[in-house]
Amino acid sequence: MPLDADVFAVPPGRNAPQVHITLGDQTGTAITVSWVTVEAAGSSTVLYGRAPGRLDLAAEGATTRYTFYYYTSGYIHHCTLAGLEHGTRYYYAIGVGDTVRTFWFTTPPAPSPDAPLRLGLIGDLGQTADSNRTLSHYEQHPGDAVLFVGDLSYADKHPLHGNNRWDTWGRFSERVLAYQPWIWTAGNQEIDYAPELGETEAFRPFAHRYPTPYRAPAALVRALLYTPQWKWLVAELAKVDRTTTPWFFISSHVPWYNSNNFHYMEGEPMRAQFEKMAVDARVDVVFAGHVHAYERTHRYSNSTDGGNIEGPADELTWPQPAYSAFREYSFGHAVLDIKNRTHAHYAWYRNQDGNRVIADETWFTNRYHMPNHDDSSVAYA
Ligand SMILES: [Fe+2]
Repeated sequence: MPLDADVFAVPPGRNAPQVHITLGDQTGTAITVSWVTVEAAGSSTVLYGRAPGRLDLAAEGATTRYTFYYYTSGYIHHCTLAGLEHGTRYYYAIGVGDTVRTFWFTTPPAPSPDAPLRLGLIGDLGQTADSNRTLSHYEQHPGDAVLFVGDLSYADKHPLHGNNRWDTWGRFSERVLAYQPWIWTAGNQEIDYAPELGETEAFRPFAHRYPTPYRAPAALVRALLYTPQWKWLVAELAKVDRTTTPWFFISSHVPWYNSNNFHYMEGEPMRAQFEKMAVDARVDVVFAGHVHAYERTHRYSNSTDGGNIEGPADELTWPQPAYSAFREYSFGHAVLDIKNRTHAHYAWYRNQDGNRVIADETWFTNRYHMPNHDDSSVAYA
């Protein structure tokens, strides 16, 4: 979308835009609030409380900035609100005087084997008209949080890695991200390694803007962010207590299974290394992005796509592999409705002529709490 699109508009006055939140700890009792002030650092304080007129708590954050070639970022604020109650609505305010903006979020439910949770699944979102449609469709029936499977702004597809496109993406996505935590997986579009511009520190814009707690942030659903540090992964897999963490997902930008000609077999080194570890740990589902098409396999992997500057990946391989249960190259998003420790309903919504239409849905059964129930038609060998 053009730079003057209404979804990129700066808030009136001198108010801080690009507000977004993510989980601030592993137990769901902390939320990290981030925002950007352009002209001056200003205040990094967040006032919060249980009613909009009673923001009687305060937390102090910190600011950071970065440069990328010709670009210098605004003041990027991160402030963690800790000691929150589970399953509770909080209101929070940033800014001072007549620049105050107030938002709200609800903390995750207390860890319990049968606590319900509704997760959005979005990847490769970008900032095109398709991106806007996907975000609007998700807003119609939003989840409690989003597992984002990588590739956020596609700033690096613009000349000189146009980092102003990180700012437009922050303003575009604020309408959802200020109100619910999104859990980030880094994708290749976040690498921003550009030695031709003298930029050789990978992930710098992303790392400054979007906090990704090192350890799994949610007690109810343990989400492992992809990392090549396999030793860390082995240790983390061993720590998961499936009584307090009934569902166990892996979020990986690149899919381990993909029958599209785009990015075909790119995930094979990861699959070869990690799949058995995941199966042994009884991981329930692997969510992935990267391929701009949708595909659900009979077990273990999944791919989704939000809409971005590169367009859809419209070349399927034939014949359709036996592991592939459903595939289509439309943009869209998915929602996973965790009902209890054994069942979760999953639906993928295609963007169809501006509408949100269910194109694929199924029930996932838990690999740990229903170990003898296997509804897949392809057994893992
Ligand atoms: Fe990607």
